[in-house]
Amino acid sequence: MDQYAVVGNPIAHSKSPSIHAYFATQTQQSLTYSTLLGDEVGFEQQVRDFFQQGGKGLNVTVPFKERAYAMCDILSQRAKQAGAVNTLLLSEKGELFGDNTDGIGMVRDITDNYQRTLKNKRVLILGAGGAVRGVLEPILSASPASVTIANRTVEKAQGLADHFDCLASSFDALEGTFDIIINGTSASLSGNLPPLKDELIGDQTWCYDMMYGIERTVFLQWAHERGADGADGLGMLVGQAAEAFYLWRQVRPNTASLVKEMRQQMRVA
Ligand code: ATR
Repeated sequence: MDQYAVVGNPIAHSKSPSIHAYFATQTQQSLTYSTLLGDEVGFEQQVRDFFQQGGKGLNVTVPFKERAYAMCDILSQRAKQAGAVNTLLLSEKGELFGDNTDGIGMVRDITDNYQRTLKNKRVLILGAGGAVRGVLEPILSASPASVTIANRTVEKAQGLADHFDCLASSFDALEGTFDIIINGTSASLSGNLPPLKDELIGDQTWCYDMMYGIERTVFLQWAHERGADGADGLGMLVGQAAEAFYLWRQVRPNTASLVKEMRQQMRVA
C-alpha cells in the first residue's frame, strides 16, 4: 500500500492522519498515512530515508517547513513565494518536489465552503510571520482590489509588501473599512488580539481566522461584537490537506463534510 506521513515536532496530536484516512475512504484510495516525529538534527536524512524506503509523500509541519523548502530539488511557484514547503513528493526522475498548499487551502475554504469571493475586495491581513507569507500568493492570485498587511513590527509587514507588491501598515495607521479581514497573527494562540480599531469593520465586512478552536476565537469574537460574521481556520487545515491529497493522488476530496464532522467531534470531546 502507498505510504504517506506528516513530519513535525511535536506531532502526536496532529489531525492529519485522520483527515487523510477520511479522504482515502471518501475517494476509495488505498493508502496509509502515519506520523513521523521530526528530528531537529537529522530532519533532512529522515526525509531522504522515508522516500528511500518507498514512501510516496510527506506533509511537513512546524518547525520544519523552511528546512523542507531548502532541501528540495524542485519547488512549485507557490512554495517559492511562501519560502516554505508543507508537501513533498518525488518526481518521476526521483527528484524531491516541494509545494505549499496552505494558502490555496485557505482560499478554497473561503471561496468554496463559505462562498466568499476575494475578487475586487479590499483585503486586510493581520500579521507578517511565516503563516501570512505562506498565504499571500494564493490571495493575490484571487485578484483582490487591494491587500494591506498590518503588523506590530511594521518593518516585517513592509518587507512582505515589497516582495508581494501590496500595502503595509501599522495597526494604528489603518484607515477605512475592509471587506475581508484575515487574522494570521499568532497572538490569538495566547488569547491576545492586536489593537484593532472598530472602524475597520463595515456593513459588508467578513472575517477569517487562520486559527481555530472549539470556542469562537478571540478575533472572531471581536468581529462578532462589532456585527461581522466570519469563519475560523479549521477549513484551512482540512483544505491544505485536500490539496496535498490531490497532488499525490490526482483526486480532490470534498472538504465540507469532514469539517462538519470534525467540528462535531471537537464539541463532544
Ligand atoms: P507564524 O509562523 O505563526 O506566522 P511567526 O512567524 O512567529 O509565526 O509570526 C507571528 C506573527 O504574529 C507576527 O506577525 C507577530 O508580530 P511581530 O512580527 O510584530 O512579532 C504576530 N504576533 C504575535 N504575538 C502578537 C501580539 N501579542 N500582538 C500582535 N501581533 C502578534
